[in-house]
Amino acid sequence: MRHLFTLDDLTSAEIERIFAITQDLKAKFGAGIRESLLPGRVMALLFEKPSLRTRVSFEAGMTQLGGGSLFLGEDVGWGSRESIGDFGRVLSEFVDVIVVRAKAHQKVLDLAEHSSCPVINGLTDFSHPCQALADLYTVLERFGTLRGLKIAYVGDANNVARSLAEACGKLGVTFACAAPKGYQFTDSDVARLKKETPKIDLQLTEDPKAAVRGAHAVYTDVWTSMGQEAEREERRKAFAGYQVNAALMKHAPKEAIFMHCLPANRGEEVTDDVIDSPASVVVQQAGNRMHAQKGVLVWLLAAQA
Ligand code: CP
Ligand code: NVA
Repeated sequence: MRHLFTLDDLTSAEIERIFAITQDLKAKFGAGIRESLLPGRVMALLFEKPSLRTRVSFEAGMTQLGGGSLFLGEDVGWGSRESIGDFGRVLSEFVDVIVVRAKAHQKVLDLAEHSSCPVINGLTDFSHPCQALADLYTVLERFGTLRGLKIAYVGDANNVARSLAEACGKLGVTFACAAPKGYQFTDSDVARLKKETPKIDLQLTEDPKAAVRGAHAVYTDVWTSMGQEAEREERRKAFAGYQVNAALMKHAPKEAIFMHCLPANRGEEVTDDVIDSPASVVVQQAGNRMHAQKGVLVWLLAAQA
């Protein structure tokens, strides 16, 4: 049985296989065909933080595949009403897969330890693997290839950036990350990335202009992530020079696309003119969350069985 906590859990070949399933299912979806590949399968969504994209794309995707889903909020008492062990063992008696959005990454690992079905990380403080799969799939759709491309990430080297870097390392994409001091990948992040993907072309800089030079995609995320609200003012100051605006986009090639995992804080990490420009693929990128996750669900629950 496999889980998806970070992209370390997938090999490059497995990601390529998931992308092939994604492409097939997306083409069929576009043609009005919704293949019932997971009939009767049940997915639980256990969420400790708000969500639009992750929740709805998983639920809609599972429905399209002929399965069902259950959204579980705080009232199920995860971590409060009974032990994590009892919770995980019982929940996985009822469902075939659990998608978890947790404040602490360790909580997902602890749940999986007691679960008899696969657990998928739907965002933690540490990583957001499903987002990175949809992101790289979007870049693949746009450019027709991934190997040899460059993604520039400007902003907080957080959960989204960490997963994106892993995905790039696994798929032969150069990853440049421009962040202010104190918000860049730590030595342990870098060591982990290099251990998992020894060939990764990782460029860390404090200069956003240097990062976007030659980039095929310019990516950003909020400066203040969910749970960091108390640091908002401090972060606004630290990231002041890291806004993705028209002036910064001028340093990227003309064909560069703009990406954001959303939700965006317009006027902070990105300006309206960039996120609403023809270069922006944020809506396609969000739509691909559903297609890529259908790829993951089919791969995890059917293609491997
Ligand atoms: N990008 C993303 O995960 O969005 P949600 O928080 O709305 O799920
Ligand atoms: N870094 C953001 C991503 C939201 C999808 C957060 O964790 O809030």
